[in-house]
Amino acid sequence: MKILITGTSKGLGDALAKFYLKNGHTVYGISRNRNKSLEKYTGFNFISQDLSDFEEMESTIPGFLKKAGRLNLAILNAGVLAEIKDMKECSLAEIKRVMDINVWSNKILIDLLFSNLKSVDQIAAISSGASVYGNRGWNAYSISKAALNMMIKLYSREQPGTHFSSVAPGLIDSGMQDYIFSLPEDQRFSSVKKLKEAKFSGQMPKPGEAAQILATSLEKIMKAESGAFLDVREL
Ligand SMILES: NC(=O)c1ccc[n+]([C@@H]2O[C@H](COP(=O)([O-])OP(=O)(O)OC[C@H]3O[C@@H](n4cnc5c(N)ncnc54)[C@H](OP(=O)(O)O)[C@@H]3O)[C@@H](O)[C@H]2O)c1
Repeated sequence: MKILITGTSKGLGDALAKFYLKNGHTVYGISRNRNKSLEKYTGFNFISQDLSDFEEMESTIPGFLKKAGRLNLAILNAGVLAEIKDMKECSLAEIKRVMDINVWSNKILIDLLFSNLKSVDQIAAISSGASVYGNRGWNAYSISKAALNMMIKLYSREQPGTHFSSVAPGLIDSGMQDYIFSLPEDQRFSSVKKLKEAKFSGQMPKPGEAAQILATSLEKIMKAESGAFLDVREL
């Protein structure tokens, strides 16, 4: 298979890339930072690109995609967490920054995929349980993932030849969780306490395990209605 994955420099994206490369597939990776551990695989192709620089994406991504010709799978995985705090403490600038990466970069990428590729069989956007829970403190991140779910559903209505889904991968012991773990006790944000507990109780798989679960789920997800939001913990 030929698979595009965004955010391959670390965390889930790095582990997904390794999973597919070890299984003999070709991976097209995008992130700002290089990942030397992936470069030893002949099937790994990479472009360093800031996904919040939309103008630059329009000029660099088409050439990169043309190398692929057609894709079996695109995993829109790159994402950022917002600082955990109340909505009233968030500036619009902070919210816009998170929306740019978690939502709008994926719109640009999907549009570029359809204008530059012969076809793409499946597009899976990595969402989160935070898109539906509405836990206090998750502000821009929750808003961005909820918007992502809806954007994916809307694309699924327009592109019947491609299977779309937004997928919550479950908890992953990545750099994103290191930030949560570093937070001081704050009674306002009870979900932070639960996540800290999960890290040491076996409920937070390492990226390698999470990638395997996700890759298996993506095969099952092809049978679900296109455009749906699914949580791997419920499949
Ligand atoms: N960790 C969890 O428990 C958890 C739970 C639910 C959902 N998720 C979702 O899973 C996905 C992966 O998360 P993770 O835990 O693996 O996070 P991570 O370890 O922080 O990795 C994030 C990846 O996104 C890339 N990225 C961020 N900003 C970028 C930008 N402006 N341009 C290009 N690439 C950018 C990073 O690459 P560079 O910095 O090199 O650019 C990195 O490769 C995210 O969408 C996240 O919301 C995670």
